[in-house]
Amino acid sequence: MNHISTKTNNIKWFNGFVSKENREKLHSHKGAVIWFTGLSASGKSTIAHHLEIQLHKMGCSTYVFDGDNVRHGLCRDLGFSADDRSENIRRIGEMTRLFIDAGIIAITAFISPYRDDRKSVRNLTGKDRFVEVYVKCPIEICEDRDSKGIYQKARKGEIKNFTGISAPYEPPEHPDLTIETDKEDINSSVKKVLRFMEKRNIISNKFQADEKQ
Ligand code: ADX
Repeated sequence: MNHISTKTNNIKWFNGFVSKENREKLHSHKGAVIWFTGLSASGKSTIAHHLEIQLHKMGCSTYVFDGDNVRHGLCRDLGFSADDRSENIRRIGEMTRLFIDAGIIAITAFISPYRDDRKSVRNLTGKDRFVEVYVKCPIEICEDRDSKGIYQKARKGEIKNFTGISAPYEPPEHPDLTIETDKEDINSSVKKVLRFMEKRNIISNKFQADEKQ
């Protein structure tokens, strides 16, 4: 495991007696994180939850971490400054690492606007367990969708540090996958991710076999 600075020296990582490999055998797939990144209302959550439906049907053990949900609990002390967003992503990264160790497929839907933060998660989980999916959508279309009316508030200056308006979004330079939600529908987006997960041997080739039938 990685050695990360802690507030005390008197702690030691204990691996337990059941290994990650044992757990993965039980699940019949690998533990991994499918990391969706993109602007608010780009479609991250929608794809994440539809991906989960398909994986669930295939018998996979999954869990979706959704930006708004996590900010109700684990990260409720955090706002949207650059430092708070980094801490948000660090905590989610640590959480997904534990899920991967448990042999589960974690699916995350956070704006995660900073490249370095996403890179840190990739380093933490290992690159073969981290699939970065860039959910690409022009901001005008995100604004049109804006079911929460949040872009309008940001345009009026009622919300500060709003991603894409008054705070930056750093698109991935080398994402594993890019989904353009203004051009691709939900079914083909989900299939694209499933195919990639097979190629990476995270899930078995059951999906493509089913697709051919
Ligand atoms: S992240 O930048 O730290 O990754 P996260 O995905 O958790 O963000 O939360 C984003 C959600 O919080 C958005 O979908 C939106 O509903 C809400 N939100 C509230 N304030 C902001 C803001 N200043 N910038 C972006 N999203 C915001």
